[in-house]
Amino acid sequence: MIIFGLRNSVKLAKSIAKHARAQFSEFNSQNFPDGESHLRFMKSVKNQHVVLVNSFHPNPNDALIELVFATQAANDSGAKKVTVVAPYLGYMRQDKEFSPGEVVSSRYMGLLLSCADEVVTIDPHLHRYKKLGEVIETKTRRLSANEDIAKYIKKNHPKAIIVGPDGESYQWAEHIAEKLHHHAVVLRKKRYNSTTVRIKVKEDVDWKGKDVVVVDDIISTGHTMIEPIKQLKQKGVKKIYCIAVHGVFVLDAVKRLQKLGANVICTNTIERKESKIDVAELISRVL
Ligand code: R5P
Repeated sequence: MIIFGLRNSVKLAKSIAKHARAQFSEFNSQNFPDGESHLRFMKSVKNQHVVLVNSFHPNPNDALIELVFATQAANDSGAKKVTVVAPYLGYMRQDKEFSPGEVVSSRYMGLLLSCADEVVTIDPHLHRYKKLGEVIETKTRRLSANEDIAKYIKKNHPKAIIVGPDGESYQWAEHIAEKLHHHAVVLRKKRYNSTTVRIKVKEDVDWKGKDVVVVDDIISTGHTMIEPIKQLKQKGVKKIYCIAVHGVFVLDAVKRLQKLGANVICTNTIERKESKIDVAELISRVL
């Protein structure tokens, strides 16, 4: 097996290779002056099980096209098997025609990745889709960082109240709370557009003086976290930790959360300063 780190996930790919006791190789990704990708495997892939690791952030379109080109090229060069590891799988939130004529891009992302023999990802955003197999036609492995996040919370904030900021976040909040033998408080969210959401914090919880961990799959603009945090502060919570599997962090999300006094933590599905939870071992176990 050879593990190649494509441009968004070189560090993670090296670490996965170490855990899997497999060979790591450079994969050269450059851009021509006009923006086209120029890609090159730095080791022969003939008769090899090739693992291509690339998260969909930053530049999700480049990440997708480079995974597809590399997969096809590995197939053409006689690879025995190609596994795509997209620790953060983009486009999954585009799972419905919200307005007439809108392209449901998740379907076409899935179609393109189906050229691999297998696709591995962590906590894909499954909301209207119930299974990854509804999006990607090839074999899929859906992993979850819940265990690693629970371990982190147990070690660092064992008494915190676990909060899920919206209905779908029960998949993280409830499972993590269960592992910690707590109950989660799952809130409801109404989204108006990508930066406007309304969330009401529950009144029947004794928040005063407590530490709170708000947990979700993705922090993107940060608004889903910001709304409950503002209310939790008014209710007198002591410390607030925002934990996401995928730290997409756009529009100064981290700065805005920190300004409210929150600590931001994520896994390394996307490599960030805030990546304090390592998913390399989790991935290595299924390769
Ligand atoms: C959507 O339902 C997801 O689970 C996240 O809650 C959402 O993507 C977070 O986005 P933002 O940080 O922009 O509010």
